Formats: sequence, C-alpha cells, structure tokens
Amino acid sequence: MGKIIAGILAPHPPHLVYAENPPQNEPKAECGWETLRWAYENCREKILEQKPDVFLVHSPHWQTVVGHHVLGLEQFSGLSVDPIFPHLFRYKYDLKVDVDLSLAIAEEGKNIGLTMKVMSNPKFRIDYGSITSCHLMNPAWDIPIVCISSNNSPYYFSNEVGQQEMFKLGEATRKAIEKSGKRCVLLASNSLSHRHFTTESEIPEDMSYEHIYHHGQYLWDMQMLDLMKQGKSQQLLDVLPEFMDMTVAEVKAGALAWMLSALGMPEYPAKIHGYGTVIGTGNAVVEWNAERAAQV
Ligand SMILES: [Fe+2]
Repeated sequence: MGKIIAGILAPHPPHLVYAENPPQNEPKAECGWETLRWAYENCREKILEQKPDVFLVHSPHWQTVVGHHVLGLEQFSGLSVDPIFPHLFRYKYDLKVDVDLSLAIAEEGKNIGLTMKVMSNPKFRIDYGSITSCHLMNPAWDIPIVCISSNNSPYYFSNEVGQQEMFKLGEATRKAIEKSGKRCVLLASNSLSHRHFTTESEIPEDMSYEHIYHHGQYLWDMQMLDLMKQGKSQQLLDVLPEFMDMTVAEVKAGALAWMLSALGMPEYPAKIHGYGTVIGTGNAVVEWNAERAAQV
C-alpha cells in the first residue's frame, strides 16, 4: 500500500532560490535568508534519506477558478518568472510529473464530489510557488512531482468554506496515494503571516533590512508554530480562519489544510526546522514525519 511518508510546510519566497544561485536561475545573489535556506537543507537531507517516489505540491500561485487542477503530462519545461520579483526569479525548469498519480487524485476527487480538471496544455507555465518549494526540497529534480492548483473558493466564499473544500481534496489525495503503492511527500507551499514591505533595499539580500513586518504578526506566527510543535492539528485548523484574517496569511489558499487533512490530522509533534522572514513575511520550514512517528 502506498503512503504519505511526510508532509512539509514548504514556503516559496523566490528570494530563497535566488540566494541559492542554482544554474537554472538567471539572477545571481551574494547570499541571504540563511536561516530558511539552512532549514530547507536540514529538512531535505532527512526526507531524501527516506527515499520518496513522488513529491506532491499544492501552491497558492497556481490559482484556478473552476475546481482543482492537476498536471496531466509527463514533462513540462520553460521559463518561470515571478511577476513581483522578476529581477530575482527567472528560472528555467524542466520537470517530470507522475501522471498516474495526478490522474488518480483527479478521479478520487470526482468520486467525493469535487470538480477536478487535468492540465494537458504542453505550453502551460508552471508557477514559481510550485517550482520554489520543489527546488528547495530536491534541487536535483530527480524525483517526479505532482502539482495541485489552489481553487479560489476561500476568496469567493469564506475562509471556512475554502478550508472544508481543502479537507476533501486532502482526503482524495490520501486515497489516491494509498492505492498507488508509492512513497509520497506532501509540500504545502506557503508562508505564514504575509504582510510585507512594499519597497526593497538596493541590494535585495542586504539582511540588515530583513525583519518581521510587525510584532503582532510575529506573535501570531509563534502561536501557530507552537500548536504545530505540540501536535495540535485540530486546534491549529480551528484558529486558521482568524489567523488568515489577522495576518493576511497565505495559508488561506488551502495548502496547509489540504496537507493536514491528507496526513489524517496528525497528533504527533511537528519538527520546526527554522523560521525566518522574507520582505517582512513569516516563513517556517516544518516537517510532519508520518513514517518516523509511526515507528516510535
Ligand atoms: Fe506566495
């Protein structure tokens, strides 16, 4: 039987890829945002040891109005440019998709009443959120991925309706994974608090300018991380709608609710690999290791 070996809160500020200077990204940096990049390094080392077959990513920057979409072709390549930070992220991607698993998720979603669609346009441009989270978890890109869009229901209806929809999507994802026989890692591609500065320092990686946007946001982030550390997934989800309103949190797009639902609302403690800010937003790399928790 297939299984989810881990779920990762995997934030996607393009600054992190920029600061890593991979050959795929055109702009070059001196350094920057080390606490988060090193958090990714630690997390990825442990996760790759567990030999995943697939990484599944849910990104707020692949927004779909009608239903939830998955990538439905084996390979996508092209140039992904961050619309806000084109001077930091112009990334040439060439990625492999686990189409069988994508189609199975679409099928399971339909079975429980979700509107699901399969993206089969070979020229479709992959969003920078999906690319950044996947790159930072596996820069070698030698493991196929599944990309899932974020439906706009939290924005059109309410935080609560949106999260309920993501719980269903998580259920569909889990069922498809179990039937697939594969070892999977889920990536919830989003930051936490999301108020940010609107001007940039002359040198983007000048860390003397980098700090949380305001103390209230920081306190909210710490409260959320504390619930994760204590394994209180249900309490976390209960306060999520208020957190979204208070901090314009990117979790609104549903990645975290999707992942916690797929993980079966874990009650074991999550591991915080690191917390840091990017242009004032709160970001953490957090791991729920289902496989290791089951061995304890
Ligand atoms: Fe984002």
